[in-house]
Amino acid sequence: MTQPHDSHSLRFESPVALVTGGSAGLGTAIAQALLNRNYHVLIVGRDSERLRLTADRLTSEEDRTDSSAVRLHQYACDVTNLDEVAKLAEFVSDRFGRLDVLVNVVGQSDRGLASEITLKRIDELVRLNVHSTVICTKALLPLIRENRGSVVNIGSLASKIPARYLGGYCLAKHALCGWTDQLSLEMRQHNVHVGLVCPGPIARQDAGHRYDKLLADDLPPEAAAPGGGAKIKGLPPQKVADAVVDCIAKRKREVILPGKARLLIILRAIFPDWGDRILLRMTSGN
Ligand SMILES: NC(=O)c1ccc[n+]([C@@H]2O[C@H](COP(=O)([O-])OP(=O)(O)OC[C@H]3O[C@@H](n4cnc5c(N)ncnc54)[C@H](OP(=O)(O)O)[C@@H]3O)[C@@H](O)[C@H]2O)c1
Repeated sequence: MTQPHDSHSLRFESPVALVTGGSAGLGTAIAQALLNRNYHVLIVGRDSERLRLTADRLTSEEDRTDSSAVRLHQYACDVTNLDEVAKLAEFVSDRFGRLDVLVNVVGQSDRGLASEITLKRIDELVRLNVHSTVICTKALLPLIRENRGSVVNIGSLASKIPARYLGGYCLAKHALCGWTDQLSLEMRQHNVHVGLVCPGPIARQDAGHRYDKLLADDLPPEAAAPGGGAKIKGLPPQKVADAVVDCIAKRKREVILPGKARLLIILRAIFPDWGDRILLRMTSGN
């Protein structure tokens, strides 16, 4: 669904950020963190009612500044659909006349065995985690280049290291990482910042039940847990959102959360066999 907008073009004075997947989970936390930094924030999701409820919540919280209701905007579309995203880019250009930050949050995890995965499931995961990001970035890059702005893609620790029972998630998030890396190289000459934020499991109320439908009989019950049962503490969403804002402000290339996971990533890159053993030990069912 497309919201009505002014037919005249204007250029906002304040910076504008677009957060895909801003109507739930991490996307909402990022939208809130950007609002706190005085950005105009456009949250994008498919369900317009969900967007409206999220916007109400974000702008009615006690610590909100008065202008946050004015600075929060919504737009309903499917970011895996080329035509809908083309209209979104048109809307951003007409409504704001600028775009400083694009945070590509839309994505989905998985549960299952790599040895059992179907090509259909790979298609679904790549569409949500990779196509969404590529489509939005390509459509909005001309605006971002005008302001030498930022594109931040939300990866995962699964963009860097495998984890048991995560089905096709590592495949999709590694692909996202590869595309982000190449885009960053290309955009340096245009002074466009391209960052990748790779969080571990994020604490949330429905953690542990989100993938119940995907759990086949050959998986242990622990596979339902965040990170496929990896022994790693859930990150507070605000902490991840603050790291995204910091990535934008300091034009960081890559952020790994928790920071100590970086050591494992580096060591595993040098000693993959050793790294596999450590990763297996970190997961239940070994
Ligand atoms: N949760 C974690 O523990 C965790 C850990 C590491 C990384 N991540 C990554 O962080 C990102 C967000 O995860 P999350 O768990 O916070 O997500 P979530 O709670 O499932 O929310 C997904 C958001 O994306 C929107 N969305 C989904 N498909 C869409 C589409 N095709 N077009 C437009 N909007 C769409 C949803 O709204 P509609 O359904 O209304 O469209 C919703 O706003 C993902 O990339 C995920 O891989 C998550």
